[in-house]
Amino acid sequence: MPNFPRMNQPNKFYLTSPIFYPNAKLHMGHAYTMTLCDILARYQRLENKEVYFLTGSDENTGKVVRAAKEANKSIEEFLTEINKNFENLYKSLNISYDQFIRTTDKEKHWPGAIALWNKLVEAGDIYKSIYRGLYCPSCEAFYTGKDLVDGKCPYHMTILEGIEEENYFFRLSKYTDTVKEKIKSDKLRVIPETRKNEILALLEQGLEDVSFSRPIENVPHGIPVPGDSTQVIYVWCDALVNYISAIGYGRDETELDKWWPANLHVIGKDILRFHAAIWPAMLLSAGLPLPNSLLVHGFITSGGHKMSKSIGNIIDPLELIEKFGPEAVRYVLARKISTFEDGDLTTEAFKDAYNGDLANGLGNLVSRIMKLAETHLSQLVTVQSSALGKEIELLLDKFEIQKAMNYIWSEIGELDAEIQKTKPWESKDKGVIADLVLRLSHIAYTLAPFMPQTSEKILSAIKDNRLSKPLFPRKDA
Ligand code: MSP
Repeated sequence: MPNFPRMNQPNKFYLTSPIFYPNAKLHMGHAYTMTLCDILARYQRLENKEVYFLTGSDENTGKVVRAAKEANKSIEEFLTEINKNFENLYKSLNISYDQFIRTTDKEKHWPGAIALWNKLVEAGDIYKSIYRGLYCPSCEAFYTGKDLVDGKCPYHMTILEGIEEENYFFRLSKYTDTVKEKIKSDKLRVIPETRKNEILALLEQGLEDVSFSRPIENVPHGIPVPGDSTQVIYVWCDALVNYISAIGYGRDETELDKWWPANLHVIGKDILRFHAAIWPAMLLSAGLPLPNSLLVHGFITSGGHKMSKSIGNIIDPLELIEKFGPEAVRYVLARKISTFEDGDLTTEAFKDAYNGDLANGLGNLVSRIMKLAETHLSQLVTVQSSALGKEIELLLDKFEIQKAMNYIWSEIGELDAEIQKTKPWESKDKGVIADLVLRLSHIAYTLAPFMPQTSEKILSAIKDNRLSKPLFPRKDA
């Protein structure tokens, strides 16, 4: 058994994103989650933590089987192609992850899923029973009466299929009270408070046991249930396990011992119940420590609806990156969407933010200050501190990404106002100009977790005492 001596090991930070379904290309909603994760990972690195940032794809699902069939491709071929899209997006957005785990990986993932299943069996928490339920193939989830909207799937508004099958079940009900206590006492923190209350209300009603396997015909490439090759392990004991299988559970306990428990799982609000009820219960059953925190963000809506392929309101992040550059996309996601609430996004909003806040705002400020420095300063300004600053640290410790961005833009506004007031192009006062450069360097450092390339470009302009080309050329077309 692994030994977990370092529940609060202060110098490591293990952060995970959800693993997305590779049944279609990633959209702006996924890019949003990944950008939030990346900002937090970069922040923790700047705080001198040893960071491990895990992401991946959730591949053993009926969605993939259907999508591959539609595309007339083998499952393997289809997955290779879609995973390339994941990789391209992460590379283009400068997502600094450490590992990309695929749940079809028989070497890295399967031993963990099987080991955990066996632990649950050992604990007496797995049993066989008949499942009758209403199933949404798009969500790949069963819903009960109270979840439905007008009798339909709450996310896809489609009629659900009545299904009856023999499955293995997990005794989730047994853990309701312990999970409730862990969340109530913040031993498992759910952020923000509104989501904590939401999950506590759900736990208050009690949890029902959940179906933990599927007939193998549904997902022929899935992980077989140990000792029963007619069934495959269903999403919970497969996808959720990625958080520990990737770091060695079931194969390399030294790594596991180093990184587990996770400091933070970043998730969208749609998968809160899975992460705040089923996952902790599984860990409790297996005798493993619970993660420290769950950060639950809202949804990006487009035209007022959740972005989804079936509604047809998908915004492709790669297209916007091509048009406005990765830093602008990171900027809009971090600044224009409230970190904990839903927020609407249109391609028009991108253009406005780009021209208004980046070209005219930050870009223009950097050009003005560097022009003054280049013209009037013969000596380089020595940048004194590379710190993020207390204000940003306080906000990012609370995961207040949007507020931290607002703070930086208020600093940018103040610096702009200062230039207007002191008119250094008239006074040519070297002290005033050097001070502007110094304040600009501070803005560059605070931007580092959010817009790393922009931060570097500003700092390198300060080092060269000139800006070679504008950071954000205006886009009028
Ligand atoms: N595979 C599961 C997660 C398993 S985690 C062990 C899954 N995948 S998913 O592809 O459907 O991705 C869901 C996640 O994508 C959400 O939790 C959220 O992080 C992100 N988003 C998907 N659509 C979104 C928006 N429209 N807005 C913001 N985030 C969204 O569920």
